[in-house]
Amino acid sequence: MTDTSRIILITGAGIGIGQATAKAFATLGDHVVVTDVLETEGKATVAAIEAAGGSAEFAFLDVRSTAAVDALVADVEARHGRIDVIIANAGIAHKAPLDTLTDEKWELTFDIDLKGIFRVVRAAAPGMKARKSGAVVALSSIMGTSYGWDEHVHYSAAKAGVVGLVRGLAVELARDGIRVNGMAPGYIRTAQLLSEENSLGAAGAEKAGEFIPMGRIGEPEEIADVITFLSSHGARYMTGQVLVVDGGLLVGRY
Ligand SMILES: NC(=O)c1ccc[n+]([C@@H]2O[C@H](COP(=O)([O-])OP(=O)(O)OC[C@H]3O[C@@H](n4cnc5c(N)ncnc54)[C@H](O)[C@@H]3O)[C@@H](O)[C@H]2O)c1
Repeated sequence: MTDTSRIILITGAGIGIGQATAKAFATLGDHVVVTDVLETEGKATVAAIEAAGGSAEFAFLDVRSTAAVDALVADVEARHGRIDVIIANAGIAHKAPLDTLTDEKWELTFDIDLKGIFRVVRAAAPGMKARKSGAVVALSSIMGTSYGWDEHVHYSAAKAGVVGLVRGLAVELARDGIRVNGMAPGYIRTAQLLSEENSLGAAGAEKAGEFIPMGRIGEPEEIADVITFLSSHGARYMTGQVLVVDGGLLVGRY
């Protein structure tokens, strides 16, 4: 880490898109606070970053806890002086046909996928406002921006909620120098997509590639690179937007 390294806080960074994003920021010379409920995977992400010459640390964080989020943000700010970028990535996508979709299942998904983003931004906003600088990228999904997803209506609803959250936060925080954007991935090769229980599974993911104009599902690194752009000086006049990165799926004719 150098004096000019940005401090990046990522939720759900032990595996998948969050992990790839942590590695992408570290490659740029930033210091990454890797957080997750998966302790082993989070620590392994930090070890991989350090082995490659980058700078990172692990902190256990369950985004369902306001107290834990507030404490972590305060701790990072106390030790590093600031948080420059938040990547609110943590999410679950549990399959639940409507007749099995209990209040508890609905609330769990909303607590993580939507309120979890709000909690982290609320905690970090005062420091970002004081410094007149900050960038946030929140994970939505094409299942929130454009598609309905059967047997996952709680997920679709929460991810659509992320679009509204991004817009509201972007407008409220713009004059404080804080930009808030969203990322809406298509089908990306992660544990979430490859889950036979909750999503397409391995065979379904490969089959989906046939319907994607680019002929394949995406890799986590292909989302991470756009997330680092959204967080960069290059995107300095961009706020309130949710970018779709899907290999052309939504604009395709199938
Ligand atoms: N993979 C895709 O095709 C795809 C598509 C669209 C959107 N997304 C979104 O991208 C984000 C990352 O997804 P992924 O595919 O890498 O999934 P993943 O399952 O591989 O990773 C999700 C991460 O979130 C963490 N997490 C879950 N509950 C948590 C909690 N309560 N507190 C903190 N962390 C928690 C998990 O431990 C894990 O590290 C999610 O928000 C997901 O909904 C993924």
